[in-house]
Amino acid sequence: MKDVYTFDELNDHHDYAREHVVNGQRLHGGFDAGGNYIPPRTRSRAEALANWQRKLEAAGGSLFEADASLLTGPRMPNSEQQRLLLANGLTRPFWNGLTITGKIEARGRVLAEMQFPDLQQLVVEDISRMALGHLNKGLLVAHGIDEGGEPDKGIGGHDVMWFVARDLVIPPGTHPDVQPPESISRPEAGKRWMPEIAQPYEMFLSFLMNLLMIEFRAEIGFASTQQVLRAPELFTDHRAAAEDAAEIIERIRTDETIHVWGLRLVLGELRQLHVRTVDGGTMPAAPLIDRFWAGLVSWAVHEQPVLAAQTAYPALREQILDSGRGDALLDDFCKLADAGALPA
Ligand SMILES: [Fe+2]
Ligand SMILES: [Fe+2]
Repeated sequence: MKDVYTFDELNDHHDYAREHVVNGQRLHGGFDAGGNYIPPRTRSRAEALANWQRKLEAAGGSLFEADASLLTGPRMPNSEQQRLLLANGLTRPFWNGLTITGKIEARGRVLAEMQFPDLQQLVVEDISRMALGHLNKGLLVAHGIDEGGEPDKGIGGHDVMWFVARDLVIPPGTHPDVQPPESISRPEAGKRWMPEIAQPYEMFLSFLMNLLMIEFRAEIGFASTQQVLRAPELFTDHRAAAEDAAEIIERIRTDETIHVWGLRLVLGELRQLHVRTVDGGTMPAAPLIDRFWAGLVSWAVHEQPVLAAQTAYPALREQILDSGRGDALLDDFCKLADAGALPA
């Protein structure tokens, strides 16, 4: 079974029967002869992940656990609230949401551009025939280009896909530009979660686990956005365009599958291995990973969504009160809020 892949293999594409073009904008990936969407850079990458997963399972390991319990927490606005706002002509919150998501996706390109530490220096066992040993040999580059595209070639990645979907339903120039928060990872402020290992490795592992959490929870946004775009009562004068926009989101979701898979795989591999500690010894990696992940789950699934929802509320309240229906609309909006989403 093949378990060593070159950079070019991990970044090569299927032969597409048709390129992915929407509204004149070239986007990544393509379609097979049957019209099915095929994600970019997956010809060998998918086979490689499947082979490494088989090896991991044969050795008694498994993909790192990540399930629907990570998909909870309040959202502001949730999809019912968003639909209410749009039905009342308030398109700005939806426009802002899609714009911010696209800009966060664009930042993912850092995965293709940054130099990450060599995990072989940290891990005791040979990782050259594992997904772990391929992170810096094409896996992270493929992932990063999926997110941020190839602007120099005019090929849009996830960032541009969100913008194209947005522009299909809300005319460009309708609203002022918005910027995402500086970081959506857990702010660590110098706190060490894995003091047993050298800091650059802790930072890299923290980065990978934050990325898995963000990628996994992105599903909440895909589902909510699609519900809004597919709501029959909305965008009634351009339903077909709204359905096309929902399809673009579906393609992004399809692309994200291999990202979540790859991250669960490398973390699953790492849990089976040993790492070198700062005091010159070695220890199993599993307790370090599990400790960090438990803390991240409590922040990302329980604390952060409440905080984010409550922080988002005042600006939404202002926009609602400034609209024609003011108080009555705000009342309806608040009745639809998720538990914990409204400030006390
Ligand atoms: Fe993405
Ligand atoms: Fe992703």
